[in-house]
Amino acid sequence: MSYAADSGVCLDRILASTDLSALTKKDAATFTRRLKAHFPRLFEKYTFVYGHQYDCYFHLQKLVELLRDGLKSRKPALKALDSQRLKTPLWYRDEEQVGMACYVDLMGPTLNDLHEKIPYFKALGVTYVHLMPLYDAPKGDSDGGYAVSDYRKVNPSLGTVKDLEKLTAALQKEGINVVLDFVFNHTSDEHAWAKAALSGDKQYQDYYYLFDDRSIPDQYEYTLREIFPQVRRGSFTYNEAMEKWVWTTFNSFQWDLNYSNPEVFNAITSEMLFLANLGCAALRLDALAFIWKEMGTNCENQEKAHVLIQAFNCCLQIVAPAVVFKSEAIVHPDEVLKYIDKDECQLSYNPLLMALLWNSLATRKTRLLTNSMKKSFAISDDCTWVNYVRCHDDIGWTFDDAVANELGINSFDHRYFLNQFYTGRFEGSFANGVPFAENPSNGDCRVCGSLASLCGLEGAIEANDPQAIDEAVKRMLLLYGITFSIGGIPLLYSSDEIAKLNDYSYRLDETKNHDDRWVNRIAVNSEDTALALGTTTPANDAQTASVRVFEGLKQMIATRKQHAIFGQSKTHILDTDNQHCFAFLRENTEGQKLLVICNFSEHPQSLHRSLLATLKQSASKDLLTDETVEMESSPLELAPYQQMWLQPV
Ligand code: GLC
Ligand code: GLC
Repeated sequence: MSYAADSGVCLDRILASTDLSALTKKDAATFTRRLKAHFPRLFEKYTFVYGHQYDCYFHLQKLVELLRDGLKSRKPALKALDSQRLKTPLWYRDEEQVGMACYVDLMGPTLNDLHEKIPYFKALGVTYVHLMPLYDAPKGDSDGGYAVSDYRKVNPSLGTVKDLEKLTAALQKEGINVVLDFVFNHTSDEHAWAKAALSGDKQYQDYYYLFDDRSIPDQYEYTLREIFPQVRRGSFTYNEAMEKWVWTTFNSFQWDLNYSNPEVFNAITSEMLFLANLGCAALRLDALAFIWKEMGTNCENQEKAHVLIQAFNCCLQIVAPAVVFKSEAIVHPDEVLKYIDKDECQLSYNPLLMALLWNSLATRKTRLLTNSMKKSFAISDDCTWVNYVRCHDDIGWTFDDAVANELGINSFDHRYFLNQFYTGRFEGSFANGVPFAENPSNGDCRVCGSLASLCGLEGAIEANDPQAIDEAVKRMLLLYGITFSIGGIPLLYSSDEIAKLNDYSYRLDETKNHDDRWVNRIAVNSEDTALALGTTTPANDAQTASVRVFEGLKQMIATRKQHAIFGQSKTHILDTDNQHCFAFLRENTEGQKLLVICNFSEHPQSLHRSLLATLKQSASKDLLTDETVEMESSPLELAPYQQMWLQPV
């Protein structure tokens, strides 16, 4: 059967019976034009997943009506932005782009208060702010907002939808985009759909995965990974009210949505369009790897998960083409890559780079980083990485076992070492981290902690050791320096930029103490920002370190923005003749080049200057120090944790 031909007939029939009279003439024309362009793809995806269901075409028709309504509610300013972005679709590959993720309550504490933080964002050079989930959510534990009770309502403690729109507009005026979460794998058990299901409504019970007894859950669980084993064993939760087992991949109050039901796809699309119409530049697709379940698999990264995300992408192209998707797939590196495509997710977190930067810091060795990046860094030219060092979650050691094996590294033992190292249990470790989600059945474990504490600042301050403080600061600048230069949007995690230490106060809060990720969800208050902006002067070692980190990051960001090479250019990962050093070359179509060399050890390291030959010039300048580096026979010396950003002169 030729789907291409069928989709044409299908669209003609749908359009013949779809009332477009509520749209302006111009919108009706835009809508029809975009449907003609994107409906064939949407049709192919939708029928791939739902074609075998008798009511597939009924739901497809309903979906087109939803898209029409989405376009109708899109504000004129956002429609103008759509046209502009369609002309500059690769804006996200620009050297100007620098992101920051922050919690409204930890930085505001309300949306209205965040207006005052705009000068702070600007001082750093931030152009994209990811506001952590700010939707209505259960009181008490809501997985930091990732249990959404109403996508169309802002959590009253933070403000209102109007406040959010006002803030988005104010940020946009200053050249700062807003990124919002699209939490679509699950809703909270207080969402209207869940409440209807709880009251026995069959239609809404079909929005979730509910089972009368353990027989099917047991079969699924045979191959499932446990995500939060410290909260609950297995992936299902018994609900007394319904007398049913509910699929809950994450916390027990986060109910997985049932995407085998086309009505769920449509309903969530409508929520997605609402969020897109708030004016965000990107939607972060939370936990996207988990949205399709297939018996006998681990129910992650399934083919139909990809097809559904592509279908969501088509919907966005039709209604809000200015909005792009950011993939949050914290999975095996080969699987991370599969979400990255112009027609799926244009942006993706880079969890492999993140984990391996920490690995190199612990081992002082770069071979695993180098070989892994050689294999997995290259992605399509019309997409980009979001490179980060820390985030609100734990660090999982998601490197490829096969790459490790080739280097003679035993993956299981090595992950054990990394967990020991970063939780400070390894003799001589500089890190103060906290173990997370230890699984008693298989020994799995992940790590939590702030950038500064994991880099050794907490221990160094306790020990009152100036050299250790200096090394901790250099580690922080090294890791972030790589995210600024390697290619992609660097994403700062708010509180990292001022080197805040772990916040252990969550241990006294019973809504948080079972989830150690709270140790790295840290407030940035007005004293912190005043210190960073130089309005107050540092009064102790911790504050001096804060200012050093802030100033160091600020300088590197400013340098990044001055050179096109940090934007749209290729990255070649290079071998070096020193196992403690990591290097890569950037190259653009203009013939510009940049060579980055990093020392991951606390000792000086030397390298053969032949590496400089990749720049094809006899002299180069380090953009970080302005020093000239010549091609000559003596070895190149790097100071402890030094990085060089070399450009030919
Ligand atoms: C994502 C979030 C994490 C959350 C999970 C479930 O991984 O980053 O914080 O717990 O999804 O929504
Ligand atoms: C797991 C999941 C990831 C999630 C994290 C939350 O690693 O793969 O998606 O963010 O747990 O801790």
